[in-house]
Amino acid sequence: MREAAAISIADRCFVARTLPFSRPDATAASHPATDASQDAPITAVHPTWQAGVAPGRPAANISTLASKGSNVSNATSADTGRSILIVGASRGLGHAMAAEFAGRGWRVLGTVRSAGTALHSLAAERPGAVEIETLDMTDHDQMRALRDRLIGREFDIVFVNAGIANRAPGDTMAEAPTDEFVRVMITNVLGAMRAVEAFGALTRPGGVIGVMSSGQGSIANNRNGTNNVYRASKAALNQAMASYAGRHADDRRAMVLMAPGWIRTEMGGANAPFGVEEAMPQIVDVLIAKQGASGLHYLDRHGQSVPW
Ligand SMILES: NC(=O)c1ccc[n+]([C@@H]2O[C@H](COP(=O)([O-])OP(=O)(O)OC[C@H]3O[C@@H](n4cnc5c(N)ncnc54)[C@H](OP(=O)(O)O)[C@@H]3O)[C@@H](O)[C@H]2O)c1
Repeated sequence: MREAAAISIADRCFVARTLPFSRPDATAASHPATDASQDAPITAVHPTWQAGVAPGRPAANISTLASKGSNVSNATSADTGRSILIVGASRGLGHAMAAEFAGRGWRVLGTVRSAGTALHSLAAERPGAVEIETLDMTDHDQMRALRDRLIGREFDIVFVNAGIANRAPGDTMAEAPTDEFVRVMITNVLGAMRAVEAFGALTRPGGVIGVMSSGQGSIANNRNGTNNVYRASKAALNQAMASYAGRHADDRRAMVLMAPGWIRTEMGGANAPFGVEEAMPQIVDVLIAKQGASGLHYLDRHGQSVPW
C-alpha cells in the first residue's frame, strides 16, 4: 500500500513538472497542468513536436547506461538461453530494458521505427545477442508482416513498451485537439493491444506477456485529475488488457501491466526522480519473477500491486 501511495504522489509530480509533458513556453514550469486553459488555445500546435515519430533522430540516452557505470550490456555475461521480444526498444525505457536483459545473458529482439537508434548501438556491441526488427505499431500492415516473419519463434517474455504522450499534457478533454486525442489512443491503446494480440501467442507457456502501463492508468489513484488524455489512454490500455486476460483465462502465461514510476527519459523529462539505471533492473526483476504466475497483474517496479 505504501508503494501505491508513492506512485500516486509520483504521478502528481509527474504531471506538474515533467518537461516534455509541459508546454514549451516559459510559464509551463510554474503552472500546474490545471492552469493549462490559460496559456494555450484549443488548436495549439507546438513546432517541437514531430507527431511522435522521430525518423533519423539521434536516440536519447544512448550513453546513459554505460556512462553511469551500470552493469547492463555486460559483454561477458553468458547466454542463458532465455529470450525477450520488446516492442519499442529504440530509446528510453525500451532501450534500457533491452540493455538490461542482454546484460543478464538474454537474447533480445527489439523493434524500432528508424535507423541509427540506441538499440542499433547495443546490437553492434553485442552481435548475436541483440536482434532488430522494424515496426510502427500503429501500422497494421507492418504488424502483420512482423507477425508473419516471427512465425515459429518463441520468447520467454513478450513486452510491449512503446507509448507516447500528447503534446500539451495539461489539456483537458475540452482543450485537447481531437487529432491529438486520437493519436495517443491509437498508439497507447490500439497499437499496444494489437501488438499483444499479434505477438502474445509467441510467448512460451509459463512465460510473461507484459505491457508498459503507468501509475497514471490507475483510476483509484487519480486524485488530481491532471494529464487527462495520457491517463485515459493508460486506463483504457489496462481495461483492454483485462479483456485480453479474460479471453485467455486458462492461459499459463502471466500477464503484467507495468507501472514503472516516473523515470528520466525523453517522455519522463529531466526532473524525474529516477534514472533508467536504477529503475530498469527492478522492472526486469519483476518481469522475470512473474514467470509462471498466470493471470493479470498490475504492478509497480517493486512488484507491488497498483490499485486499478
Ligand atoms: N518515463 C516515464 O516516467 C514513464 C512513466 C510511466 C510509463 N511510461 C511508459 O513507458 C513507455 C516508454 O516510455 P519512455 O519514457 O521510454 O518514452 P520515450 O523515451 O518517449 O520512448 C518511447 C518509445 O516508444 C516508441 N514508440 C512510440 N510510438 C511508437 C509506435 N507507434 N510504434 C512503435 N514504437 C513507438 C518510441 O520509438 P521512436 O524512437 O521511434 O519514437 C520509443 O522507443 C511508454 O509506454 C510510456 O507511456 C513512462
